[in-house]
Amino acid sequence: MRKPVIAGNWKMYKTVSESVDTALALKPLVANANHCDVIIAPVFTALKTVADRLEGSNVHVAGQNCSTEVEEGAHTGEVTAAMLRDVGASHVIVGHSERRQFYFETDSMVNKKCQAAITAGLIAILCVGESLEQREQGTAERVVSGQLTGGLSGLTVSDLDRIIVAYEPVWAIGTGRTATPEQAQEMHAFIRRVFADGYTKTAAGAMRILYGGSVKPDNIAGLMSQTDIDGALVGGASLKADSFAQIVNFGRT
Ligand code: PGA
Repeated sequence: MRKPVIAGNWKMYKTVSESVDTALALKPLVANANHCDVIIAPVFTALKTVADRLEGSNVHVAGQNCSTEVEEGAHTGEVTAAMLRDVGASHVIVGHSERRQFYFETDSMVNKKCQAAITAGLIAILCVGESLEQREQGTAERVVSGQLTGGLSGLTVSDLDRIIVAYEPVWAIGTGRTATPEQAQEMHAFIRRVFADGYTKTAAGAMRILYGGSVKPDNIAGLMSQTDIDGALVGGASLKADSFAQIVNFGRT
């Protein structure tokens, strides 16, 4: 059985005190959520404080990015995966479409970041997804499989225990335009086939594949009803504790 994952990507929002307030408001609301892994990804500056304040709770903390470099060194503005681990992060988001689009991250950089995350003992949440243009041109599957094979290049089957995939169609991120559960399911099933072909059926069956892109309390249940959707990476709706908690606790009262 794949344990669902509900992860909140806070992007470049919130000061340290705002981050702590949201995290502490979230904590009791999801305290009984043993059915899934709950993760929040604050900005770098708030990571340590938030992780400290959540210690002992069931809410995990993630970085939103890490360096391609494994070792510390002269790389101004960068943070290693090990440094994220040092401040209490257990996960890191890698290859988010905003980083690919605005910071020119390539599959080879994303691959190095996945490797760096695994080396540091973190779980990488590898984001993939096509643009609207690519979907309209009928190349969505080719784009996504290229991002997967490029991003995971050199990883062994046992490394996959430390990978979570997030399928986030670029046209659905922050637009209010969610993929329908059926559209998402189709791509998730395709992603699982890519793992079955590239690795093993067992590894493919165990891989957790999250959907991301305008996930809200009112559409999570439909998405989660699909066989190959194992959770969500949530942006906007994760910024408020109550809406994120509703997504975590979907289908429960
Ligand atoms: P959104 O963002 O939920 O605001 O669409 C999702 C993401 O970018 O991870």
